[in-house]
Amino acid sequence: MVTRASTEVAIIGSGPAGLMLGALLAQRGIAAVILEQRARSYVEGRIRAGVLEQGTVALLDQVGVAGRLHREGLVHGGTEIAVDGARRRIDFRALTGKSVVVYGQTEVTKDLIDARLAAGLPIVWEADAVSLHDIDSVRPWVSYKRDGDEHRLDCAYVAGCDGFHGVSRKAIPARILKTYERVYPFGWLGILAEVPPCSHELIYASHANGFALASMRSPTRSRYYIQCSLDTDIADWPDERLWGELRLRLGPDVAPAVTAGPSIEKSVAPLRSFVAAPMQHGRLLLAGDAAHIVPPTGAKGLNLAASDVAYLATALAGALRDGDPTAIDAYGPKALARVWKAERFSWWMTGLLHKLHPPESFESRMQAAELDYLFSSQAAQTALAENYVGLPL
Ligand code: APR
Ligand code: PHB
Repeated sequence: MVTRASTEVAIIGSGPAGLMLGALLAQRGIAAVILEQRARSYVEGRIRAGVLEQGTVALLDQVGVAGRLHREGLVHGGTEIAVDGARRRIDFRALTGKSVVVYGQTEVTKDLIDARLAAGLPIVWEADAVSLHDIDSVRPWVSYKRDGDEHRLDCAYVAGCDGFHGVSRKAIPARILKTYERVYPFGWLGILAEVPPCSHELIYASHANGFALASMRSPTRSRYYIQCSLDTDIADWPDERLWGELRLRLGPDVAPAVTAGPSIEKSVAPLRSFVAAPMQHGRLLLAGDAAHIVPPTGAKGLNLAASDVAYLATALAGALRDGDPTAIDAYGPKALARVWKAERFSWWMTGLLHKLHPPESFESRMQAAELDYLFSSQAAQTALAENYVGLPL
């Protein structure tokens, strides 16, 4: 037997995109059901970057889930770039009048889930075999299984917020969907440890051995990364070796401030730039990692998910509340215009700071010249700063 239910918007995925969209729709009085294939504990345990643009913070404020963020988030008015140990601070506040907030994506997710469940709004955890149907029609529906039982959810629109590996993007016919991709020939080896950060702001470091990043989750919890080869075996990187390499790449000024401690988590992540277009097909709308991936340099992933769903909530309200179905058609082009600019920035910052080219090649000289320009030009620093704090929504 198939259990049948209906809603206005079926949201696939309870990552930041799906959860924020759910909150924005609830605020507009639009009904939505979130279908998530994983368990709540899994979703709340994922460790991801957490640098929030002011626009992302404003959205979380708007939906009333920024209380803990304002208490515990760390406001950063700048960041440091280190090149072979020489440091330059990029002063976001002086250059743009804006700042960012460092607050783990894991915490954003938890806050959104808590608020949604407290409001009695539905999330179906462990929804198996989610499948989209009739997205070309005005009555799409989603089928899934839960505890072996078959379910059907009828809706007016489907929001595909199910990340890069989800099913939604694949529901757009291959002849229509165009994808653009760059896979980088290296990864990031990350370590999370219960130790105080080495600096009160993030440090992005370029070094002859490769890139390094000193980041944080709180005043007592640090997150560090080093550029590594894609075939890196974590077993070859016991904590002591990793701390030593971090100190080397961050440079002699910073090294003494790096407090070593046992890793809570250690993993290798590949880097990828990816865009799928269009972001709309019939009644299916993609948002967040389902439609695009950025390399983590510059921490744009979560912020792009936020801007997508801000545009999407407006488009859905236009269609469902104001009786203007053309509002939906504006969504994809508007989102993509911002996505491409964030892709450009993440790609540029990745190319600027990683070891990519043979020493003494023309390309490595270009990279050195670009870094030299950044260190010496306020215009160049302003360009970095305005992208880092987030382009307007
Ligand atoms: N059915 C239901 N849910 C699914 C399916 C599926 N077939 N496939 C994936 N999901 C769920 C995942 O388990 C996950 O919870 O969709 C969610 C997608 O969440 P994210 O991958 O976090 O993507 P998104 O919400 O777009 O957030 C973008 O998160 O991945 C980071 O770095 C990324 O910061 C960026 C942000
Ligand atoms: C992180 O803290 O995990 C982080 C911060 C900034 C980045 C990427 C990751 O650019």
